[in-house]
Amino acid sequence: MCGIVGYVGARQATLILVNGLRKLEYRGYDSAGVAVWNDGQSRVVRCRGKLAALEEKLIKEPAPGSTGIGHTRWATHGRPSDENAHPHKVGSISVIHNGIIENHLALRQELAAGGSKFTSETDTELFAHLVEREVRKGTTDLTAAVRAALAKVHGAYAFVVMNDKDPSTLVAAKNASPMVVGLGDGENFIASDVTAILSETRKIIFVEEGEIVTVTRDKVTLSDFDGKPRTREPKTITWSATQAEKAGFKHYMLKEIHEQPRSVADTLVGRVDLEKDDVYLDGVELDPKKFKRIIFIACGTSYHASLVGEFIIEALSRIPVEVDLASEWRYRDPIVGPGDLVVAVSQSGETADTMAAVREAKAKGAQVLAISNVLESSIPRLADMAFYTHAGPEIGVASTKAFTTQLIAMALLGVHLGRRSGHLKAPQARELLHELMLLPQKMKDIVDSGAQLQAIARRYGHAKGFLFLGRGAQYPIALEGALKLKEISYIHAEGYAAGEMKHGPIALIDENLPVVVLVPRGPVYDKVVSNLAEVRARQGKVVAIATRGDVDIGGIADEIVMLPDTAVELQPILTVLPLQLLSYYVADFKGTDIDQPRNLAKSVTVE
Ligand code: G6P
Repeated sequence: MCGIVGYVGARQATLILVNGLRKLEYRGYDSAGVAVWNDGQSRVVRCRGKLAALEEKLIKEPAPGSTGIGHTRWATHGRPSDENAHPHKVGSISVIHNGIIENHLALRQELAAGGSKFTSETDTELFAHLVEREVRKGTTDLTAAVRAALAKVHGAYAFVVMNDKDPSTLVAAKNASPMVVGLGDGENFIASDVTAILSETRKIIFVEEGEIVTVTRDKVTLSDFDGKPRTREPKTITWSATQAEKAGFKHYMLKEIHEQPRSVADTLVGRVDLEKDDVYLDGVELDPKKFKRIIFIACGTSYHASLVGEFIIEALSRIPVEVDLASEWRYRDPIVGPGDLVVAVSQSGETADTMAAVREAKAKGAQVLAISNVLESSIPRLADMAFYTHAGPEIGVASTKAFTTQLIAMALLGVHLGRRSGHLKAPQARELLHELMLLPQKMKDIVDSGAQLQAIARRYGHAKGFLFLGRGAQYPIALEGALKLKEISYIHAEGYAAGEMKHGPIALIDENLPVVVLVPRGPVYDKVVSNLAEVRARQGKVVAIATRGDVDIGGIADEIVMLPDTAVELQPILTVLPLQLLSYYVADFKGTDIDQPRNLAKSVTVE
């Protein structure tokens, strides 16, 4: 989500850091900062806002020197502010960090008990305290101090650490957050993304999971967290700068489709308690005794996520749920008030209709919970409570990773409410949470096998229209599949509840209509198979999205995409993936502007 750049060499570091961070701007951020060593100590300059604001500050407070670290922050723990901007400095130690420290609450308590004073709300500052504690205890080698501090930390992270007492060295560590080292002549670079340093060097070492890297002007040393040395040859990057921004993918959308296992894992980090069979929602505590129903309001893809939420939450908690389009609900003089929990779902947190609906709900006395991907955006600020998905900035206009992380949020909310309403018993919760934790790997298996969807897209991409069918929690996925396809390929597509097909869309079916049927194993499997047979009987072309091991589907579908199995409530998180890939490849085949489809905007802040 955030951007990291580090430099050790003979040139002025600040310029290199700011230029590098500028190349990462496309990823989205809300504050920026540098720490540069000069004459015995490092100077930290940082502020809320864009790089231009940092540059202005640097004119007033120059930071000369040739060893430094720089960061752009996309807030996850603690609001965007000057104090929460990185680097964080404690004693002689400065730290920048991407990712999330999962055990930050316990660490904060432990450090506070030892007398540490905190100057920010971030989890990052805690790591600076941990390293500084090691240095104070007498560890002179920065790599050893970082290694000792890492032993205390769980989560997904990339850190870069600088010590005023040894400005010749930067130490970085990586666990499930990207990091590269760029090799120069008498100078070396660290970055969270190749793009940041591509104008400086094309010789890159990709740091792997569980590695610490010690970087000086003329040496780069890799080791694992136990101190065992590792070696790796640098790679020469031939990508253009634009290709590098997309990590080698042709479009941001494809990159974001592939990022989903990661963003889902990030959204789960620190929230699942497998010992207590429960989940934590960033301090949000909902008591089902205090409300009689839940009303979801949202737009676009967030509306589809809410429809899945209805299914999950009703199933797990038996609390009645209604879902409405914000633009409809707000003008209906909605019947809402005390005793209702209104959940506003918005990736951007800025959508005008959703915001107006939140105002309406609050004015009528309902409690409002916001689910958003952008910390401190308008809707969470307006709401009474908020919890966040951690998809990271989404660049492609067609939402993909924001959607699957919203589905994770729905599952977490469902477990939270189900445990508190008493409907979801511990053994079932345990099973579901276990399945949740297995999702990232299953998602990776699916997105890695995109070639099959590419082939299907080539066979059916010339069609004038598509129909998507699903039942239960798969009905909103049919809607989302149709939305994705029309958004980026401009092919007309309809999503329909499979049971409703006979009341209308069946008239459309002939040999030219591809029908994508979501038919994973589950309680309505047989019903959907019957609907599928009705399509087949009218020569419709059936693309079935089914569960691996389903031997019955073979004879009745033209194409079958097999997915790993999971709990019924979680199946939408898997079944949407082939639909995203199908839309992407159909659009790619047609040559449309996938990342910025005509007439669409990423964030709709007008009515
Ligand atoms: C726009 C975007 C969609 C998004 C919708 C709602 O139409 O193109 O991808 O689903 O707005 O946005 P929100 O930020 O409120 O989730």
